[in-house]
Formats: sequence, structure tokens, C-alpha cells
Amino acid sequence: MVEKLNSMGIIGINPYLVKVEVDISTGMPYFDIVGLPDASVKEAKDRVRAALKNCGFDFPIARIIVNLAPADIKKFGAIYDFPILIAVLKCSKQLNAQLDDAIIIGELSLSGDLNPINGVLPMIIKAKELGFKKVFLPKDNAAEGAIINDISIYPVNKITDFINHINALSQIPIHPRTKITKTPNKNFIDLKDVKGQFDAKRALEIAAAGGHNILLVGPPGSGKSMLAKRIPTILPEMTFDEIIETTKIYSIMGALPQEIPLITNRPFRSPHHTISSSGISGGGSIPKPGELSMAHNGVLFLDELPEFPKNTLESLRQPIEDCQVTISRVKGTLTYPCAVMLVAAMNPCPCGYFGHPSRPCICSDYTISKYLSKISGPLLDRIDIHIEVPPVDFESICSINNTLEETSANVKERVNKAREIQNLRYKELKINFNSKAPLNVMEKFSNLTDSAKDILKKAFDVLNLSARAYDKILKISRTIADIEGSETIEVAHISEAIQYRSLDRKYWFRNNK
Ligand SMILES: Nc1ncnc2c1ncn2[C@@H]1O[C@H](COP(=O)(O)OP(=O)(O)OP(=O)(O)O)[C@@H](O)[C@H]1O
Ligand SMILES: [Mg+2]
Repeated sequence: MVEKLNSMGIIGINPYLVKVEVDISTGMPYFDIVGLPDASVKEAKDRVRAALKNCGFDFPIARIIVNLAPADIKKFGAIYDFPILIAVLKCSKQLNAQLDDAIIIGELSLSGDLNPINGVLPMIIKAKELGFKKVFLPKDNAAEGAIINDISIYPVNKITDFINHINALSQIPIHPRTKITKTPNKNFIDLKDVKGQFDAKRALEIAAAGGHNILLVGPPGSGKSMLAKRIPTILPEMTFDEIIETTKIYSIMGALPQEIPLITNRPFRSPHHTISSSGISGGGSIPKPGELSMAHNGVLFLDELPEFPKNTLESLRQPIEDCQVTISRVKGTLTYPCAVMLVAAMNPCPCGYFGHPSRPCICSDYTISKYLSKISGPLLDRIDIHIEVPPVDFESICSINNTLEETSANVKERVNKAREIQNLRYKELKINFNSKAPLNVMEKFSNLTDSAKDILKKAFDVLNLSARAYDKILKISRTIADIEGSETIEVAHISEAIQYRSLDRKYWFRNNK
């Protein structure tokens, strides 16, 4: 007699239905799990045996075979403990239950308690899509599961609670729906803490308004890291869809906050430069999203950019353009979303003072070139805005009252207005902001005045710009015009945008000027 229960698995961020089948037959006592289980799935045997015994049930002395279908996809983790135990109980006639419309997921402790698992949110979304009505899961995952409506979430504390529920001895109450409320940011920092640096702040505002990538170059201690860390404070609030998308990634990583299992503040990820390529992009023997995906709908900040290994930086080229990272394995391809705003900061040379107005640089021309060459032309080309962060002058830094400095809230208001214009513009297309518009769409909406067109043409010829640089300049100038509330792109907008593409000539291509 075979018993079947429904459970779930995840490949990348895509959940799929797993049928847990148990067959018990007479013969030499034997317990095996098939269907490509990894070591952690195989260990379910011991947990199930101990949990059954400790909850007062019999472990059948017979041949027990568990099959996890589809059998050609590798299964990971302890999530099948719970359905295997229930299927064994059903198959050995110790439990009579109708569970065709339910999904069962959860890890067991030896005493029969249920421990939380990762990836619950995407699994529940999939379960709902597949038409399931109930989910039995560990109590600590219930709030996360209950984010999704129209599917009943039953939080299970202990195996015996589940059995009593099925036998109608005591009911497990359905978990109330988790309200999506914004969690306050405990570590709030404000843009007004950064003194001076008005040009850099302006560039940050433009980058935030149009979702542009930005590179900050300047000497040590000028405030680059300070500025970058404040970018999330001027970005618009996350939408409902963005919250769900980002929470899914954190759910798979098991990185959701305990109290409210939601990511409602834009992520700011700042990996150290010793990170590996798979740490950035994702992957590994048990595939996991990388820092790029952990920053989905937020900011990926790469401080000290040239210190990152070259292959790590080069691996960013495709994901930052396509907003998704694809990892190829022998067994198939995984795709993780990564709609990030890339923010990078660096010194212009190893000593940090090349181009400094007063302090001499001690690096040789060769050292400077070698240092800068760690950032390849194609990568530089993909970063929309390049801005210099010069040393702060004494007057700015020693000003006691910083009423001159704008607060993050003020800047955010302008960013929000510019985003509203963009949302309206692209509402028929699946585009959120200017930086994501393809060139043909951008040309349609750019509305350049004749004199702005002339300036762009001259810049293209004189600065020898790439087609991508042309595209980026159009997009940046569109964002600047949106901040100003202007329908057309004027000379001032295009000229400012061109400036943000000229810094490479001062540093990278200084000999070809
Ligand atoms: N514009 C500024 N306003 C106020 N404080 C500043 C400013 N710039 C630098 N500081 C002070 O200097 C410290 C260092 O700044 P920060 O780490 O941002 O510099 P950096 O440009 O990233 O330097 P490095 O190139 O060495 O990484 C800050 O913690 C802050 O105390
Ligand atoms: Mg720094």
C-alpha cells in the first residue's frame, strides 16, 4: 500500500511540487529514501524514527521505501522530515487522514517538535498557484507563510498537535494574515550629516531618481562611503510587489527578521572585496542567491572597487544590465533576480591623492594605470554616472550648524516626484524608471530640443563616445529633466548629463585627451 503526500522543493528561487510517497512491505527491516536526496534529506530517516518513538508511535519493523518525486531533481534540506513521518504513520495505519488539498513542510527535532525551514514564502505562493487550500508548517514559519492570502496556514508546534488536529481532538487555529506594514529602520542615517559635497549629492539624487548606477571617485576621507550609505534614505519606498520579490530571496537565504518576516526597507548590501565570484552572483553546491540578489530592489555598494578581483567585477557586467543573474550548472541553469542600483566608490590611485588639488600623489604613472585598469572599459561604460568627490573644504567641514545641508527627506520628496513622472510615462511598458528603458523607448520619450541635440552631437564626436554612452546620456538627461518637471530635454540637462560621463577622461583615458 502506497501513501502519497504533497510537499515542496526549490530550485534557485523557483519552487516546485514534490510528492512524498511511502511504501511499507513485509521483509527484512529496511528504511531508504530515493529520488535524488542529498545527505541532509537522507538523515531524515533518523529524525523520523526518533520523533515517532518519542511521540508514542510505533516505528514499523518492515521494508520502508520513501520516494521523492520528481525523482530527477536533487532535493536539499530537512524540509521533508514532516511529510515523511506523516506518510509513514498513514501507511502503517496509525493515522487516517485526507490530506490531498494540503502541503506539508517542516524539519523535525528528535522529540517531535517542528523546526523552522527556509524558503517558505515562495513555496506558499507556488502552493496557492497550484490550487492547494492548506499548508501545515512549523509554527516559527507561520507569520511568513501568512503573508499570502486565500490559503490557510496551520502552524504546527509538535507532531502530536498535528495528530490531534487530524483526529479532531484539538484544533490548530489558522494563522491570521500577516499585515504588510513598514518596519522602522533602526539604523537611520541622514544625508544632512555629509557636509558640503553638493555636486556629489546632486549626482546621488539623479541616480536615485532614475535608478542609475553611480561611481564615486575621490581621495581618502572625502566622504564617499558616507554618501553611498545614505542612498537608501533617498530612494522611494518599496512597492508591495518589490517587498514580496525581495522577501522571497531573504526567505530562501533564511535571513528574514524574526519579529516581522518581511523586507520593507530597500536592502543595502556592501560585500567586502575578498568576496568570491559565487558570493556575489550566487551558486554553490547547494545553490543560493549571492549578494547581487540579496540587494534586489535596493543598493549593491562596492567600496574600494579596484580591490575586488577582476573576474568578480567582470561577472557583474551581464547581471547589472539584465537585472538577473544566470548560473549554469551541468544539471541545468538557475536564474536569480537582481534589479540593483550599483554604487561603487574608489580612490583614483593606490596612494589616493592623484588629481588632489593640494596634496601630491606619490604613485608612478605605471602604478596609477595598473590600478585603474582593474576597472575595465566595458564595466566603466555600464556605470551610468561617474562623479568626483573632492576633499571637503575647511569652511564646510567646520560649520557648526548644518542648516545648509538638505535632509534625506527633502531629497526623497524630489526623487518621488521624478519617479511618479516616470511611472506615468512607462505605465504601458514593464519599466519602472529611465535607466531601464531600452534605447528605442528612450528615443521616443526623450523630447530633445534642437539645441540640446546639437550639444549631444558635438559631445559624441569630440568625446568619442560609445553607443552605450550615448544611450546613458539620454537616460540621465531624461532623469534630470524629470527632476525639474520639464517635458523636454534642454541644453542644461544634456550638458549636466555629459559631465557625468566625462570623468573617465581625467583618470582612465588621460593620455588620449
Ligand atoms: N563631507 C563630509 N562631511 C562630514 N564628515 C565627513 C565628510 N567627509 C568625510 N567625513 C568624515 O570622515 C570620515 C571618513 O569618511 P568616508 O569613510 O566616507 O571617506 P571615504 O571617502 O570613503 O574614504 P576612503 O577613500 O578612505 O574610503 C567619516 O566617517 C566622517 O567622519
Ligand atoms: Mg570609503
